[in-house]
This record gives sequence, C-alpha cells and structure tokens, in this order.
Amino acid sequence: MVSELTIQRPNDMHLHLRDGDMLKAVTPHTSADFGRAIIMPNLVPPVTRTDHARAYHQRIMAAVPKGHAFDPMMTLYLTETTDIDDLVNGVKEGLIKAVKLYPAGATTNSDSGVRDVTKIMPVLEKMAEINLPLLVHGEVTTHEIDIFDREKVFIETVLDPLRQALPDLRVVMEHITTKDGADYAAAGNENLAATITTHHLIINRNHILVGGIKPHYYCLPVAKREEHRLALRKAATSGDPRFFLGTDSAPHTTSTKENACGCAGIYSSLNTMSCLTEVFEQEKALDKLEAFASLNGAAFYGLAPNPQKMRLVKQQEPVSYPATIEVGNETVTTFDPGYPLHWRVENLD
Ligand code: DOR
Ligand code: ZN
Repeated sequence: MVSELTIQRPNDMHLHLRDGDMLKAVTPHTSADFGRAIIMPNLVPPVTRTDHARAYHQRIMAAVPKGHAFDPMMTLYLTETTDIDDLVNGVKEGLIKAVKLYPAGATTNSDSGVRDVTKIMPVLEKMAEINLPLLVHGEVTTHEIDIFDREKVFIETVLDPLRQALPDLRVVMEHITTKDGADYAAAGNENLAATITTHHLIINRNHILVGGIKPHYYCLPVAKREEHRLALRKAATSGDPRFFLGTDSAPHTTSTKENACGCAGIYSSLNTMSCLTEVFEQEKALDKLEAFASLNGAAFYGLAPNPQKMRLVKQQEPVSYPATIEVGNETVTTFDPGYPLHWRVENLD
C-alpha cells in the first residue's frame, strides 16, 4: 500500500481569487500549494482590459506571502466589445494567458458576457492566429433548457459548431460536469482540453438535495447524476493529457451561500490536494495524480512543470482543516468532502 507520494508542485488551472479582503484571505491558501493558477476575470466590474489585468496582477502579488512561489496567470473577460489590439498587446507583454467566455447570465458576475457568438468571431479568429486559448464556461442559458442539460446542449449547439468554424482555436472546456463533456474532450484533437474540479469528482446532485438543501455544495455548472461523477473520475485518473485540474474554487461568504438565493461557488483551495489524493487513491490511480494536477495543464499552456515538489503523506489520524476561514467580519465555508481526509500535504523546495 502506498503511503507516501512525491509529485511536481501542482497548478490550479481555474481559480477565483476575488478582490479586497477576500483576495487577501484566500490567496495564501492557493499560493501555499500551487505554483501557478489561471485567474478568473469575473470581478465586479470584470477584467476586460489589459490595464485592469495588470493592476489585478499587482493586487494578487501583494497578497502572496513571502516564500510562496506563485505565478498568477491572468485572463481577460470576453465581451462583445473586446478591444482586439488591447488583447494582442496584453499577450505580447506576456501578461494575458487566455480569454474567458461566459455566456451572459450563466453564472456569478456574467452579465457582461456574450449573448451573440457571431459578435465575437473577429476576436476568436485573432486568438486562433496567435495561439491564445479560449476558456469556455460551457452552459447555455436559455430558460427552456433544464439546468441539468445545459452543458450537453452547449456542446452540441455552441461549442462544436464553433470548433468546426475555427479548428485552429485552442479551447479549454472549463469545469466539465458530464459524461458528455468528458467524451467530447476525449474525442478532440490537441487543440482541445478540459478542466475538472475537485468537488465534481466527489459530489453528485444527491449531495446538494437529499436530506435538506446543502448550499455549500451548490456551484455552477451544478453537480449532475452519479454516472457523470464516475465519468469525470475516469477522465481525471486516465492520465490523458487533455484533462487537468482547475479547482474552480470560488469563495462566497457563508451568509451569501446560506441564503434564500444562495450564490454558486465552492471554496476548496484549502484542502484540494488532500481531497484529490484521496480520490486518486480510491480509484487506485495515485500514479496518475501528478499528470492531472501538475503536468497536463502546464503542458497545454506550453509551460515546463514547476521546479518544486509536493509530498503527500498518508497518516492514520485524519488531517484537519478549518471548517471556515475569516474574511473581515464574515466567514467563508470550506469544502467538506463528507469523509475524513488522511493525506497530509508537505511542500518541498
Ligand atoms: O459556481 C461557480 N462559481 N461557478 C462559476 O462559474 C462562477 C463561480 C463564481 O465566480 O462564484
Ligand atoms: Zn469558475
């Protein structure tokens, strides 16, 4: 039985750090365990221009504790009026690493997102030309479509036609939650990849709804049936280079989650590597953890693995994480996998 494992320092290829007090509270949890993170731009107002991203990058770096080796990889929020020259300059400067597409209304702070894909074709053509990845929140927002079908319908009606129209565009299907998403990504070429969150490997929709509503398990895309969770586990533990970790850790205060209209988002930065190691152990795939968490994402973005290492040590006594963290006068509730965690994280040089 394996009780110790050393991997290259992981990367979180989909992360929400927010701003202000929240940014200061959560950034150290990510920078402790991750060498790089793709930073989501859905602030209020959204990060739509290179100068916004540069200023945000500085605020993030100011929140990284001394001694943490952490590279926040900045993204721009795609709108129907994105300034192509500004984007190209941000990429040339080495600051902008990807562009995020939110269908308008799909999730938290997505009101400025895209309503009409034809309006963004010129930007996407330029991105294909300069090899800049498009990160896609893959859900349709039409009211007639059931929330549990929104990812599948997006793939069929938006993503696939888009990829056929622009085969050179590099696309990351962010936080896939369905077997349909995993199958579509696995059938793609080298221009397609998919991130998978930690929590979608652990919870299905029963966790949210059975025995009382559990707002801390609510996120978007919402967790689906068990067969989908199993398909995601299979993809994540396959070693296939198209699948990599993006935690989608998305902190909201406890009071805005435990609310008549609770926010979508799960805060998992603090314990993600312990949770993930437990999942990979359950799947008898500890040998694939490094590919998923540390190697595949870096390779997709054309980066070498981080030089540092992480040791994961299995201990008898459960590893304890705080159930909540303090942010100003509020708290943020940490993701609870529903079972004790036994893998301790040790960060090495
Ligand atoms: O659950 C989610 N929370 N899904 C998203 O797509 C956005 C995120 C957030 O920003 O809170
Ligand atoms: Zn997200």
